[in-house]
Amino acid sequence: MKAAHSERLRILLRRSAIERRVSQLGRQITADFRGERLHLIGVLKGASIFLSDLIRDIRLEVSLDFIAVSSYGQSSRSSGQVRLTKDLDNSIEGLHTILIEDILDTGRTIAYLQRVILQRKPRSLHVATLLSKSGRRVKEVRPDYVGFEIPNEFVVGYGLDYAERYRNLRDICVLELPGGRDPHP
Ligand code: IMP
Ligand code: MG
Repeated sequence: MKAAHSERLRILLRRSAIERRVSQLGRQITADFRGERLHLIGVLKGASIFLSDLIRDIRLEVSLDFIAVSSYGQSSRSSGQVRLTKDLDNSIEGLHTILIEDILDTGRTIAYLQRVILQRKPRSLHVATLLSKSGRRVKEVRPDYVGFEIPNEFVVGYGLDYAERYRNLRDICVLELPGGRDPHP
């Protein structure tokens, strides 16, 4: 796909590598929760594509729900403000849950969501993230399932966006802005 506005895209993870890794994660989750019922909680919108591939590689009785958050504007982002914009539709009390994220960056979003979800008394809460940029962590978060550890670069595709664009790319690409600007919010 052609990049817009003189933005440049460089492939970091090809669709075939993503596909292989997602099905490995699905098999691992299936083995870890054998005999149990599982409830997946996808973080909108970025994780929707990862979740829809992953759930088909989980051979268990499984249900899903979505939750959405937004970070406050640029200046206050550094203060770690995250706000719920869409809550869960159904109760998770007593369920084994896995929070499904596209990318773990500073860790603020997942740290916040773990707090919110644990208040709802699930039987267990695990975290699965397709990507992790450990180098940018501000909050300590220990994900249970990580697809790929990636360098400190801004990536798009396979659900990940820049200003709502590029979610439809099949490969995950590093986005380079003109003048070397940093795309991170
Ligand atoms: P965190 O709260 O800093 O861990 O980041 C969470 C959110 O920031 C992710 O769910 C993404 O929406 C966004 N984000 C962080 N890094 C990237 C990236 O490289 N590409 C696209 N979105 C990103
Ligand atoms: Mg996201």
